[in-house]
Amino acid sequence: MDKKMSEAVRTILQGDGAVAEEPGREADAGFLWDFWYPAVRSSVIRGNKLVTAMLLEVPLVLGRTAEGRAFAMRDSCPHRGIPLSYGHFDGTTVECSYHGWRFDACTARCVEIPSLTSQDKLKVERIFAGHYPCEERDGYVWVYMTSRDRKAVDNSAGTRLPEQVPAAPSLPVFSKKYKITHLECELPSHVDQGIIGLMDPAHGPFVHQSWFWRSKHSIHEKQKQFEPIPYGFRMSPHSPSSNSAPYQLLKRITGEGVTTTIDFVLPNMRLEEIHSGKMWFSSRATVTPVRRDLCRIDFVAAWNLPFLPAFLFRVFGQTFLRQDQETMIRQAEGLKHDPKLMLIDDADRPAKWYFGLKANLLEARRTGVAMEHPMTGPVTLHWRS
Ligand code: FES
Ligand SMILES: [Fe+2]
Repeated sequence: MDKKMSEAVRTILQGDGAVAEEPGREADAGFLWDFWYPAVRSSVIRGNKLVTAMLLEVPLVLGRTAEGRAFAMRDSCPHRGIPLSYGHFDGTTVECSYHGWRFDACTARCVEIPSLTSQDKLKVERIFAGHYPCEERDGYVWVYMTSRDRKAVDNSAGTRLPEQVPAAPSLPVFSKKYKITHLECELPSHVDQGIIGLMDPAHGPFVHQSWFWRSKHSIHEKQKQFEPIPYGFRMSPHSPSSNSAPYQLLKRITGEGVTTTIDFVLPNMRLEEIHSGKMWFSSRATVTPVRRDLCRIDFVAAWNLPFLPAFLFRVFGQTFLRQDQETMIRQAEGLKHDPKLMLIDDADRPAKWYFGLKANLLEARRTGVAMEHPMTGPVTLHWRS
């Protein structure tokens, strides 16, 4: 018997209610659990379709009930582990394709085991599939990735939910009518590289050279003030880069000043708000870990600027994301060989804050002591870009 086979047999022989350890899952992949992450766009779930996604290396099956509630279950039957996504969903329950066990989609509680007879004493209602809190916002299905559920293959105890699930994130908007658009792009890298790439001010003139934006020759010295905010930091409200055409246009139309505020908030979120008179633009980019070697940028933007049609914005947005993606594909080539890296002041200071925030959060969770912020107060950073 080969090693793999003997392991499989051992798992089966563990018998009633035993928790089978998943080999390899213990190695820390550097993910932040107990946060909301966007799993899929809302639009991909139609009718009783089941769709799959992966977040933080957890396979998920998602759907929407007949009443319109989105749900997310671990894509694994608690009986023998076949993906539940091969099963059938009738608008209320998910039926496994192997032995037909049925699970209530919202609670993941088992409601039927077809093979049972009246002699059997098994308490069906005490069996749960893994499941996660799930909400739809801004055109995404968000899943709250609870750490408690990480090893939830315990099929007797059911899935325990955290006592407190915070509200799912939602994009700030500032008028009744507005345009909204979504873009996405996968990056072949660890989420940390994706995030520090997102907040990196120095790559702009090299990676995002475009006639409509700026060129290498427009590099000039900048100074920006940053301040600590809960779980993150803010680039204090300022007038955006004078050499960018879109801002110039906005200023000319409203005749008023333009202010931009950019926040980064754990676990993975960059929020930007631009205001000029009654005109506004609001965007959010999240970098979501799919696996330890793959992450995805989900970008949503809303605005009431009359001169900016969604298609035009999408063209610019896609170009930007593709430039970042190409760069990160190349970077992944280099990172394969595990090189030593550096973070320099001041241009990489936001990246240092990100790593600081992440480490301090993990430490606070470990010790139960209040989280320490890596910044002690407002800081002015200087760089050329
Ligand atoms: S594996 Fe799902 S019902 Fe048996
Ligand atoms: Fe970029």
